Amino acid sequence: KLVLNLANTGIKIQPTMYGIFFEDINFGADGGLYAEMVKNRSFEFDDPLMGWKQPNSDRHKLNDKSGYASAIENDHPVNKHLLRVQVKDDKGYTLVNEGFRGMGVKANDLYNVSVMAANQEGNISQIKFQFTDAAGNIIGETTVSPSGKELKKYTAQIKATKTEAKANLKISFTGTGTINLDMISIFPQDTWKGRPGGLRKDLVQKLYDLNPGFLRFPGGCIVEGRTLEQRYQWKKSVGKVEDRELIINRWNTEFDHRPAPDYFQTFGLGFYEYFQMSEDIGAEPLPVLSCGIACQFNTGEMVPMAELDPYIQDATDLIEFANGAVTTKWGKLRSDMGHPKPFNMKYIGVGNEQWGPDYVERYKVFEKAIHGKYPDITIVSGSGPFPDGEYFDYGWKELSKLGVKIVDEHFYNTAEWFKNSATRYDKYDRKGPKVFAGEYAVQSKAIASPENKNNWDGALAEAAFMTGLERNAEVVNLTSYAPLFAHADGWQWTPDLIWFNNLKSYATPNYYVQQLYGNNPGTDLVAVTEGGKAITGQNGLFATAVTDKNTKEVIVKVVNTSKEAQRTNMSVKGNKLAKTGKIITLMSDNLSAENSFDAEPITPKESEFKLNGSTIDVTVPAQSFVVIKVKLS
Ligand code: AHR
Repeated sequence: KLVLNLANTGIKIQPTMYGIFFEDINFGADGGLYAEMVKNRSFEFDDPLMGWKQPNSDRHKLNDKSGYASAIENDHPVNKHLLRVQVKDDKGYTLVNEGFRGMGVKANDLYNVSVMAANQEGNISQIKFQFTDAAGNIIGETTVSPSGKELKKYTAQIKATKTEAKANLKISFTGTGTINLDMISIFPQDTWKGRPGGLRKDLVQKLYDLNPGFLRFPGGCIVEGRTLEQRYQWKKSVGKVEDRELIINRWNTEFDHRPAPDYFQTFGLGFYEYFQMSEDIGAEPLPVLSCGIACQFNTGEMVPMAELDPYIQDATDLIEFANGAVTTKWGKLRSDMGHPKPFNMKYIGVGNEQWGPDYVERYKVFEKAIHGKYPDITIVSGSGPFPDGEYFDYGWKELSKLGVKIVDEHFYNTAEWFKNSATRYDKYDRKGPKVFAGEYAVQSKAIASPENKNNWDGALAEAAFMTGLERNAEVVNLTSYAPLFAHADGWQWTPDLIWFNNLKSYATPNYYVQQLYGNNPGTDLVAVTEGGKAITGQNGLFATAVTDKNTKEVIVKVVNTSKEAQRTNMSVKGNKLAKTGKIITLMSDNLSAENSFDAEPITPKESEFKLNGSTIDVTVPAQSFVVIKVKLS
């Protein structure tokens, strides 16, 4: 017999409670959210021709070839290469771009092509751009007519005639001579909010549908880099797209199971776009910056304390970029990029998964500088990647002494661990720092194992764990699953919340768990108990309850991990209830069940139920997560 007591506990559910964590891992940005279809468009990868082929050119028989392209140096400070193409005859010299594991092209959709071109010698009067399908057939084309020796931008549009997940881009030339090319780019016209050069619509829509309270960006390990040189530097990710300096991605890896030598960060999706996306999806922006320590799983390179200034400057300048007046240096850049109004950023993260005295020492300097200038900004500090270990305890102890506001904790563990940890935060000091459960996900096999599955077993355990996050909203203020995205042909880490290929995406069972919490956060915590105790796994049952002051309803989340259906028979104390309620059920009788591109068997189903006076009496199916919603009168 459960008791739902609607008396106010005085504990608020923070609007940031259920958020999202984005990282450019698994081709999440380049090749994913950022809708650019051409890989290595500016020839700045370590091998300037990576991603490009010249099928009709034999590099070794210079005299036989009908054309040849090679990268040449340019005087641009960051976009250092151009492609010099020499077309010798009309025998069909072509350049081919392979896209990000192919290009996704949809029949009848329009694609915006752009290229910088400058004729050098001879007369190349036309450049033709064609999509080809896997068999090499042309499935859409357009041309531009370059003129003059100055590098100029040309644009055109392709209408695709066929749907193809693994299209290539073929470029050919009319006339002979030498021409320089750069920034060869194709975007679908149909991007999120129709922004040219924008983001993939289906993927942003999935984020929007989570109703996220915050967006943490740009990572993860990519914030830190394998070396300090390779850390994420936000200033290189803003301004004109062609002026953003590309770097190697931290997940460009020789990783045994999924090598990705072609993984670079172009920063087409940069900090401006992250702030803009946060605004679009109604999420508080939560940028995380390097604290001056490279990934401690790699080199762990550290900037000497005496040389920390540029890192600190990056943090204070970022706040000016996000919030400063348009008359300030960085506020002006934001305005020039199209957003005169401040982004109203309230949080900043210092370091990702850094640990030990070196972190704490650096954190103190950041804190002093940031709060010296911006006392109202909330700084999120880290506790390292090893929950409950020696470093974790050290971090918590030292950061607590400093009176930090929020500490980020990360958990990648088994389903059992997650279920058992529904009580984790019951023990946390109510007067200490708040918690950001910033990365967590059930690992069905081992951390990041290629055999991990996004199955119902994991999702159900996460739902159970999350009851503990919500019941402890007094301590836990922000939470996010990780990683967010994975390209089906280009991932480095599993499991992931949303899977996509070049045409489609699907939501995992874990996604729907997040969505149910994110769309039903409530505003105030209330107590749901059994025999006076919180429901934290007795008979496999986990529960949490909130009221929502805006919608005037009570929302009870119940997770039943047992193999038997269980009646709630919940007597409600306090307000009167409406005569009917809604129950949203996410379930499967098969713990191994997964969603896929072809089918999503695990999706929330909504139905109505009748109330019996002040009793909520619903049956919670075996192995299910239900959200019960009743209007208060
Ligand atoms: O989410 C994948 C990685 O896991 C993140 O980059 C890092 O923060 C953590 O170790």
